[in-house]
Amino acid sequence: MAAFLLFMFIFTSQVIGGFNAKLPPPSYGNTITILSIDGGGVKGILPTVVLEHLEKALQKLAKDEKAALADYFDVIAGTSTGGLIATMLAAPGLQDASRPAFTTPEILQFYLDCAPSIFNLTHAANWTLETPSPKFDERFLHQKIKEVPSRDVRLADIVLGTSAAPTELPPHFILKKLFLLDGFNLADGSLTATSPALIAVSEVVQQLNKKNPNFVPLNENEPTKIVLLSLGTGRNGETKGIDALKGRFLTGIQWIPLITASLAMSLGDMNEYHLKSVFPDNPSSDNYYLRIDVTS
Ligand SMILES: *[C@@H]1O[C@H](CO)[C@@H](O)[C@H](O)[C@H]1NC(C)=O
Ligand SMILES: *[C@@H]1O[C@H](CO)[C@@H](O)[C@H](O)[C@H]1NC(C)=O
Repeated sequence: MAAFLLFMFIFTSQVIGGFNAKLPPPSYGNTITILSIDGGGVKGILPTVVLEHLEKALQKLAKDEKAALADYFDVIAGTSTGGLIATMLAAPGLQDASRPAFTTPEILQFYLDCAPSIFNLTHAANWTLETPSPKFDERFLHQKIKEVPSRDVRLADIVLGTSAAPTELPPHFILKKLFLLDGFNLADGSLTATSPALIAVSEVVQQLNKKNPNFVPLNENEPTKIVLLSLGTGRNGETKGIDALKGRFLTGIQWIPLITASLAMSLGDMNEYHLKSVFPDNPSSDNYYLRIDVTS
């Protein structure tokens, strides 16, 4: 953990280079700032600790202990557990709607307090791949999410949808209209994008093209700059140990978990590949992208 903290401190100073002004929404100047947080279950603690340090550093810089990440980012995207964090960072507070619902130390406390109940190992003890129900009991998480101060009930549903990891938690159904059995069947966002960074950038570009007034820069004659901070929840190489020779003799059933792990990893690599072409490896270029992740 100590090495990890050091890693963050080094980067925090670099990050601040790109985020040194509080940005009143809609987009201020010509810079649109995006925060993207990966999925990864309980490992959501990792980006939360990074964000806690970033928020503290920004408060110091602004000489304002109430400064929040939402003051600095125009768009906050999250997948799965990252969706929980994004919602807590961006949903308006119940007491004061001009401030976010949660501070970063409160989000960290949420993980420390609730993770043992959301991922209840006692409940999961007898679960096998043959069990016709998810590994964990969703009732605790559903109860907790209802407590997230939000005026929009659908925000709670979206969070439950993006965090419905197959085999761990049940898929989530959202009714479109009351009394019509028509709606959306949602499963974990990690099935599409463990890192929502590329989707967030595409969304910003599409909104700019549509001239959404929240995204159009104040000075239309100058190019728009996009600054992206993308936080991972740790990578693990699950296909390690299988080489071409061993692969030659695998059965179809043995391939299934390898294919699943490979698809998940290559989704991440493809994200990175496309982002690298949008964001050249040069902090002084117009667009700036920083990825912070840990490898295990
Ligand atoms: C886990 O679930 C068991 C029952 O299934 C319950 O008794 C226990 O309190 C739960 N643990 C936590 C940390 O919520
Ligand atoms: C798991 O199985 C054991 C043995 O069959 C049983 O005693 C125990 O109560 C079960 N635990 C849960 C949480 O269902």
